[in-house]
Amino acid sequence: MVLDPEDGGYYSYRDHFHFLPLCYIDWKGIKTMLILGFLGSPKVNGHCSKLLAKALEGAASKGAATKRFDLIRLNIKYCRGCNTCYRNDPELTIGKCPIKDDVASILKDYVTADGYIFASPVYDGTITALMKTFLERKIMLTYKAPDAYGKLPESRCPANFKRKAAFIVTGAAADEYKEVMADPCFEALESSLMLEQVDTSYEMYVGGIENITAEQFQERLEEAFRLGAHLVEDIGKALQDN
Ligand SMILES: Cc1cc2nc3c(=O)[nH]c(=O)nc-3n(C[C@H](O)[C@H](O)[C@H](O)COP(=O)(O)O)c2cc1C
Repeated sequence: MVLDPEDGGYYSYRDHFHFLPLCYIDWKGIKTMLILGFLGSPKVNGHCSKLLAKALEGAASKGAATKRFDLIRLNIKYCRGCNTCYRNDPELTIGKCPIKDDVASILKDYVTADGYIFASPVYDGTITALMKTFLERKIMLTYKAPDAYGKLPESRCPANFKRKAAFIVTGAAADEYKEVMADPCFEALESSLMLEQVDTSYEMYVGGIENITAEQFQERLEEAFRLGAHLVEDIGKALQDN
């Protein structure tokens, strides 16, 4: 695992396999399953970050290639609501956005991936503004005809099978407050992914994070590892069923 802040703020396991890569054949040829991780916490060494790292390790243990994006390290500007990206050429896989930052380059990887792990702390009862800002910019992956009033935008790159996502949410409020703290985070992520036909595979809330013991956190790290492994297995099943 190599942390390379010079490399656009993410690090990649692609060239650092510890496990046999999991390959499958699609219409473009042989492909290695790719899982992307997105960290929505501003703390790159915080709890959320450690849980995401473990989840990606779990995915790699099942043979997937993984790549991680620490959103705080990237240049991600606010959507300006100009609607340009989802109105231009429906043949484009990624609509052109007039904002010059890192989002188009992240989305180039995004559209080649088979699965995603989104990790965010609860901030003010929902996902962080950092994560939300990225989700809003993902509208570039959708197309809406100029006369499609009231309709949902269409996915620009409908996958030939259902891609899957897993979510990790951390919060100060204890596990028993999951419904009020974590569920709004899961819903925000799900409604963003729904347009892209990405199903949820696994949701995990780690509450009471401010006073969690080392032993309790270790157990949650193991759960995060299983989340990553489970996601890869789940995608493998979806590919087989396809
Ligand atoms: C601005 C802010 C708002 C927060 N709001 C909530 C909240 O609404 N509910 C909650 O359970 N925790 C809340 N927290 C606590 C964070 O969720 C917690 O510190 C975080 O999950 C720890 O993860 P990290 O180490 O990756 O930052 C908040 C923290 C900050 C800084």
